Amino acid sequence: MIRIDESKCLKCKACVKDCIVKVLTIGENGFPHVRPEDERFCLNCQHCLAVCPVGAVECHDVTAEKAAPVGPLPTAQTMMNLLCQRRSIRQYKLEDLDSETMDALVKSLAWTPTGCNDHRLFFAVVRRRTEMDFFRDKMVKSMQFLVKTGIMRLLYPNFKRYKDDIMAGEDIIFRNAPHMVVACTPKNAPCKEADPWIALSYFDVMAQSLGVGTCWCGFGVYAFKFVKALRERIGLPNGYKVGAVMLFGWPDVEYKRQTAPKQFQMKLL
Ligand SMILES: Cc1cc2nc3c(=O)[nH]c(=O)nc-3n(C[C@H](O)[C@H](O)[C@H](O)COP(=O)(O)O)c2cc1C
Repeated sequence: MIRIDESKCLKCKACVKDCIVKVLTIGENGFPHVRPEDERFCLNCQHCLAVCPVGAVECHDVTAEKAAPVGPLPTAQTMMNLLCQRRSIRQYKLEDLDSETMDALVKSLAWTPTGCNDHRLFFAVVRRRTEMDFFRDKMVKSMQFLVKTGIMRLLYPNFKRYKDDIMAGEDIIFRNAPHMVVACTPKNAPCKEADPWIALSYFDVMAQSLGVGTCWCGFGVYAFKFVKALRERIGLPNGYKVGAVMLFGWPDVEYKRQTAPKQFQMKLL
């Protein structure tokens, strides 16, 4: 539901021009409005609310007063540093993140863009190392079972490099991380493949800015796929699947320089 405060509205049409689904149109009195039959097409993207120069638009109960003003952005150089200095962290301090840092990270998840602004993503956030130990123990035991039964050889022929570590009980999946965020998507979401990865890429950028180390956990996605106890532990809703997994925590390693990666193939047109 979009409401226009006609006492404030300048009739500038900024909201109408920026409405991607064209539900906002100009009424006979010159003010923007949404015809009742069009309301169901609104994506609740809140562009109308964000673009209005005088705060005259209310979108799905969000008023201009409830939305924060725009603030300063990182410079191109600090942003580039952040991108170049991000490393996959596989050595973590034992302690949990403080609640302020954890809350800032969790809060940032709300701003991830999703296909068609589908807001049905489900995030499981492991906020305590002791809870993380459940996932770790389950996977160590599952991996040892797969090795002993020979199933691992069939699933992952190159596993031999990790065999000794697995049998010694090393956490090669969750990397001894104290925390994990699991992004889950409804199986019928319009962009079910992309949304979870984008969400955790945003989470990653926020984490870097707070000095929190992260590591993508592609193996973790498989772990959730194959081990029901993990899915149950995060309370995966019916009709959902785990899309992407990221480990995080205070890093216990410090890098002295950036890397110099090989450039990707590119065609500049
Ligand atoms: C889709 C994806 C899945 C990954 N899965 C894992 C994983 O399961 N375990 C792990 O230790 N690293 C994983 N990584 C991290 C990559 O190995 C890492 O990004 C790469 O070696 C480059 O190192 P850097 O991130 O420090 O620049 C994954 C990365 C991506 C993008």
